Amino acid sequence: MKKFYITTPIYYVNDIPHIGHSYTTIAADIAARWKRLNNYDVFFLTGTDEHGAKIAQAAKEKGKTAQELCDEMSEKFKEAWSLLNISYDDFIRTTEARQSKAVSQMVQDLLDKGFIYKKEYSALYCVGCERFYPEKDLDENGCCPFHKTKPVLQSEENYFFRLSSFADKLLERISDPNHKEHISIRPEERKNEIIGKIKLGLEDVSFSRTAIDWGIPLPFDKSQTVYVWVDALINYITAIGYPSNQEQFNKYWPADIHLMAKDILWFHSVIWPAMLMAAQIPTPKQVYSHGFFTLNGNKMSKSLGNVISPAQLAAKYGVDGARYLAVTLIPFGPDGDISWDALTKKYNIDLANNLGNLISRTIKLAEKNFDLKVPQTPADLSLTNKVAEILNENFAPAMDNLYLHKASESLQNALTLINRRIESDAPWKLANTDLPKLANCIYSYLQSLNLIAIHLLAFMPELSKKIWLITGASGDIETCAKKYFADKQIPKEGFSPSGAQLQTAGILFPRI
Ligand code: MSP
Repeated sequence: MKKFYITTPIYYVNDIPHIGHSYTTIAADIAARWKRLNNYDVFFLTGTDEHGAKIAQAAKEKGKTAQELCDEMSEKFKEAWSLLNISYDDFIRTTEARQSKAVSQMVQDLLDKGFIYKKEYSALYCVGCERFYPEKDLDENGCCPFHKTKPVLQSEENYFFRLSSFADKLLERISDPNHKEHISIRPEERKNEIIGKIKLGLEDVSFSRTAIDWGIPLPFDKSQTVYVWVDALINYITAIGYPSNQEQFNKYWPADIHLMAKDILWFHSVIWPAMLMAAQIPTPKQVYSHGFFTLNGNKMSKSLGNVISPAQLAAKYGVDGARYLAVTLIPFGPDGDISWDALTKKYNIDLANNLGNLISRTIKLAEKNFDLKVPQTPADLSLTNKVAEILNENFAPAMDNLYLHKASESLQNALTLINRRIESDAPWKLANTDLPKLANCIYSYLQSLNLIAIHLLAFMPELSKKIWLITGASGDIETCAKKYFADKQIPKEGFSPSGAQLQTAGILFPRI
């Protein structure tokens, strides 16, 4: 069995989970579910980033200890992911013992191998990003490009990592797709940005802090803590067993996809691979940075009061509706803008009209004319085969490349094909004129709907199961989906055999 290891960023616990975090996590969940359906042995990791100045400050402002804040907020992330039906295999917290053990081991190893040294340093630090900024990377007002706040000057004696010695090796691995340890950076434009930046030269990076005590102490100098980003990146190997569970580590490492937005691509595509190379650990296969979205043209922020929570999204569109809409409204990759209006419009078109109406029309016809059973008729899979053709050609490749909007487009095209067929069959006229033809029509719509349900499963796990049951399909949907994706064969009698009991649908997607 092939393996697939996918990660989300571990989120800072100074903020409650919002639609931005949900975007990445839902996308990763859909990728993980898709791979499981394609018979991969999947490890899907998410978690929370709990050390550093930002968290210590947030705790102070709230009158809590840092640990209290972390315990409380990491629960909030777990609750959000449980609400959104996120099927992670592990949730890591950087304050866990396994993390400090792994971090200490890795940092000591880098020191022993000669990649860490001590030096006096003075530079501008943005607490929001938890990083130093060279002046050239600040905006025209001298502010952090992401937080729009002025970084503060910090002078410390820190331990540094020899990032500068990895520029050539990184360029080789990133640029050459045939390199045996190729690091694929997606999308292409972002890869080119990273290559361009590496070519400008890499400076060594600070690896520790003296002034911040909310962190993991350096094993060789307890007066300093490990820089929060170094700590955070190591989570990806801690969770699968580094350094003690070699067997599990070898099974899943290297990561197949580190997923995130462009704000933190540099850390994942440059600093992290360099740390791994220094420690002689294989580098990740792919770093995928999706776009950053704004809400009605504005950055989401507490001060603007425009932050959308996962709960709000689920309350409006249902959990599965929220999952589908969040990741398909804008193309997955470039930046984009979202709004409640645009979400609702897509909900009404894709889910209430195209899918919801199709199901309720089909079931009503069967209820009225065939006693709520799959009609007895010779198995005719011509329509279903056409649906399969569209999906095979476009849906599967889109999913493999994480083009989630394209995958949804292909599903909608398949639904349009079925809906057009219904319009031309005009089955409501057939009840009095041609019952065998009506039986054939309803049978065809049901089989096609089953195929749609199988393809929607990664996006909408619960509703797909419901559609499967309503349409009288036999067997467990996941088992049938796995079999279908393995051999692309629709069963000879269809998924819903003639005579099978259907269920009244009710309104699956109430129009908003
Ligand atoms: N703790 C670090 C990550 C360490 S990973 C080793 C961090 N945390 S964060 O809480 O700020 O999360 C940033 C990530 O949240 C982004 O990279 C992205 O995955 C997601 N997003 C947050 N807001 C977003 C948008 N507005 N749009 C798209 N993604 C968003 O950085």
